[in-house]
Amino acid sequence: MADDRSTADGEVYLPTPEIVSAAHVPDWEALSAEADANYVKFWEDRARELAWHAPWQQVLDQSNKPFYKWFVGARTNIVHNALDRHQKTWRRNKLALIWEGEPGDLRTFSYHALHREVCQFANVLKSMGARKGDRITIYMGRIPEIVIAMLACAKIGAIHSVIYGGFSVEALHGRIEDSQSKLLLTADGGWLNGKIVRLKSIVDEALQRCGCVEHVVVVKRTGHEVVMEQGRDYWYHDLLGLPIARTDGDRCETEVMDAEDPLFILYTSGTTGKPKAIVHTHGGYQVGVATTMKYVFDIKEEDRWWCTADPGWITGHSYVVYAPLILGTTSFMYEGAATFPYPDRWWKMVERYGINIFYTAPTAIRGLMRFGEAWVNRRDLSCLRLLGTVGEPINPEAWRWYHRTVGKQRCPVMDTWWQTETGMFMITPVPSAPLKPGSAGRPFFGQQAEVVDESGKPVPDGEEGFLVLKRPWPAMLRTVYGDPDRYVQQYWSKYPGRYLTGDSAKRDKDGYFWVIGRVDDVIKVSGYRLGTAEIESALVSHPSVAEAAVIGLPDEIKGSVIHAFCILKAGVAPSPELADTLKQHVGHEIGPIARPAEVRFVEKLPKTRSGKIMRRVLKARAQGMDEGDVSTLEE
Ligand code: PRX
Repeated sequence: MADDRSTADGEVYLPTPEIVSAAHVPDWEALSAEADANYVKFWEDRARELAWHAPWQQVLDQSNKPFYKWFVGARTNIVHNALDRHQKTWRRNKLALIWEGEPGDLRTFSYHALHREVCQFANVLKSMGARKGDRITIYMGRIPEIVIAMLACAKIGAIHSVIYGGFSVEALHGRIEDSQSKLLLTADGGWLNGKIVRLKSIVDEALQRCGCVEHVVVVKRTGHEVVMEQGRDYWYHDLLGLPIARTDGDRCETEVMDAEDPLFILYTSGTTGKPKAIVHTHGGYQVGVATTMKYVFDIKEEDRWWCTADPGWITGHSYVVYAPLILGTTSFMYEGAATFPYPDRWWKMVERYGINIFYTAPTAIRGLMRFGEAWVNRRDLSCLRLLGTVGEPINPEAWRWYHRTVGKQRCPVMDTWWQTETGMFMITPVPSAPLKPGSAGRPFFGQQAEVVDESGKPVPDGEEGFLVLKRPWPAMLRTVYGDPDRYVQQYWSKYPGRYLTGDSAKRDKDGYFWVIGRVDDVIKVSGYRLGTAEIESALVSHPSVAEAAVIGLPDEIKGSVIHAFCILKAGVAPSPELADTLKQHVGHEIGPIARPAEVRFVEKLPKTRSGKIMRRVLKARAQGMDEGDVSTLEE
């Protein structure tokens, strides 16, 4: 990749002619203009590349905005595209998944083998009473069974709700309860940093708090002793050994769904403490994720793809599980920590498995940068062709390190901006486009983005404002599960007709977007999305805390870290030990990722006259910055 810094705008990286000529989209401008002129047709043409049981009568129904519908009337099931149709082609014997456990164990699945496992588990789920439309919670580490479980649910038309394995008791309980899942699929534990994460014990504690779960299926991964409650808990391998798993010669019919039927719900943080589940569907979602992955990561038949995300987050749903399988790609998945037992673990696996395309998060890059280039350089990374990042803005220094040290200045870096809600990449380069470190580039084909002020007026280029999206897209969220008002309120009411992202951004004169960060009560810690309200309610659930407020403060590696301000109950004395106890309490309730870096005890919190905590003021005070407009402050 040529390095051209002569452009007036600063640093621009141009693709090599080889990258351009091999790209699915050799000319960004041309395809962008075509899609912009008729985005509905653009998506309809892409949808034709997939298999449907019955065609659509209408591509996009906008009659009940913002409840958009895509591929109206079409019949499909994403699993048909991800697995079934490959069984009739040579891909049946192609590897779908290569997996390495943290201790070094290896498992591989061809498309045929993955299909067989999914069918068997789908039969088991059916025999346990699971039906179309039922919600099923999945809480596992990064093991092949999490992929199998998700696909098995989708195959029978059940709606999966995957809870990230790093979440803990209360986070798990709240999400199970909200989804009213009768079935919970989990594992005894998972390996991380040489230690066992005791998933089953967290499940046991969470289930003491909720009444809806009837059965728990447990995958044996770590083999440590766990409590199995008779009549409620079953081992996965025992169930798969039953004749019921093998009915009809290991086959299980794929349920034919309406394109708009829900495929999954995925909880994400918002502005209140109540969990918010984003709803994605079978039809539009499959078109959106497959198209974006194919164009942005230039997927070729012979590629080996590694997205390091956990299936518990949207990146894992879209680009570990669904898009790679729809495209017939070979994916690699790794269970554990990037630095276990040494900081070259990832690079060692890139070399060993011949990964061509590698997609990770800025926080991971910054974390690995700390250990120096020697760890990367001892491995042969010449197999890499393309790199990617997601989850938070990447600072140009980390971008350059990634490009130079990992990509050897040959591999374009795709900085993809998107969200749980968008389901697919929304602002992103393609390999043939000029790159600017720190910018996610321009909107994906067919999309238009804008930066606006409080009143909704576009701000001049170079100025900061609220990032909005102007057009519907096929993988868009359809609603908030069980709460359509919240969907309208949160995303479509501030600027009717435009989707509110919750991010602030700038656009430059070339139309490139520079995302700055969240402007709501969401904090990104190491790329993980956490809500202030959920952490605050975990803090006040401790008997010594009367009130709490949390904010995110900048951190060189993690992007942000959590600082908590607590007012103690009368008679409780502040102490460093209590601060530690509260950190641990948050870790136990929400998960280790939510543990505050600092807990401070205060007498009062800055509030508006109507009693809302002004986190913005807390943040400014903590950083010794100007508090801004404080006219609404209580005192
Ligand atoms: O703030 C943006 C940031 O991550 C948020 C969405 O988080 P989540 O729903 O967890 O999904 C993350 C993975 C898609 C966004 O509102 N974000 C995501 N990607 C980028 C980003 N910020 C800057 N650059 C990105 N590439």
